[in-house]
Amino acid sequence: MSHLSGKVAIVTGSSKGIGAGIAERLAADGAHVVVNYSRSAEDADVVVKRIVAAGGKAVAIKADISKPAKVQPLIDGALKAFGKLDILVNNAGVYKVDSLDTLTAESFDEHFHLNVRGLLLTTQAASRVLPAGGVVVNISSGLAKSPYPMVHVYCATKGAVDTLTRTLGMELGARNIRVVGIAPGFVTTEGNAESAKGMADFFIGKTPLGRVGQPKDIAAAVSYAVSEDAGWVTGSTIDVSGGMVF
Ligand SMILES: NC(=O)c1ccc[n+]([C@@H]2O[C@H](COP(=O)([O-])OP(=O)(O)OC[C@H]3O[C@@H](n4cnc5c(N)ncnc54)[C@H](OP(=O)(O)O)[C@@H]3O)[C@@H](O)[C@H]2O)c1
Repeated sequence: MSHLSGKVAIVTGSSKGIGAGIAERLAADGAHVVVNYSRSAEDADVVVKRIVAAGGKAVAIKADISKPAKVQPLIDGALKAFGKLDILVNNAGVYKVDSLDTLTAESFDEHFHLNVRGLLLTTQAASRVLPAGGVVVNISSGLAKSPYPMVHVYCATKGAVDTLTRTLGMELGARNIRVVGIAPGFVTTEGNAESAKGMADFFIGKTPLGRVGQPKDIAAAVSYAVSEDAGWVTGSTIDVSGGMVF
């Protein structure tokens, strides 16, 4: 379980939910991990403490990925803490219900500023220091390829993420930096607890494997994506969804 020994990883939005699961898994795999958050300092500290208690190394760094000026300080913070950067997991994302009737320009901007612009600018800043063999993982969603009305804007952001996974993979391949997308199905997290209340049976009904996902299901796929076993995988997005389709 130490295939990432000597590696340094940033996981954006890892104070809770899927990101916390990814941070803990990469640390268990041997990486030194930057736990990024924008508001939840206490939650980020809890994740860091869990990693340290399990024998790993981690620091929490605050940076609102939706704000372009906050991105470079996150990369600089990782370099200051651990001296280098090998892995970037673009996980921070916002999900809101937006029917055609109720969606607003503000909600559109909130989604795109974090889920798309933030992901791209963080990758740009990271790419300047990632070495050959570095890996970028973009957390997409099953809703990119199997979209659903009522979440028009969110689905569109994740479609954009899949396109960026391909274009970034094409550009960074020449430097032997891989870019891999992971598209989760429905996973119970703090972020969707309210919007998905009472809907577990609905999601389970759309999922051939008959259960909702847990952060550790997604973390296991990220662990593979950043490993040498995935050394021939780039520019593509892997579904990790129990087979969910709408
Ligand atoms: N849960 C699902 O069913 C599901 C399915 C498919 C894809 N996904 C994707 O998986 C990713 C994680 O989802 P989740 O459900 O785990 O979310 P979550 O429980 O809401 O957690 C979101 C995390 O992102 C951080 N965050 C939010 N805004 C941020 C910002 N502007 N800058 C930096 N960090 C920020 C939050 O920290 P703060 O509280 O400090 O802001 C928190 O740590 C997202 O990209 C989401 O689209 C989720």
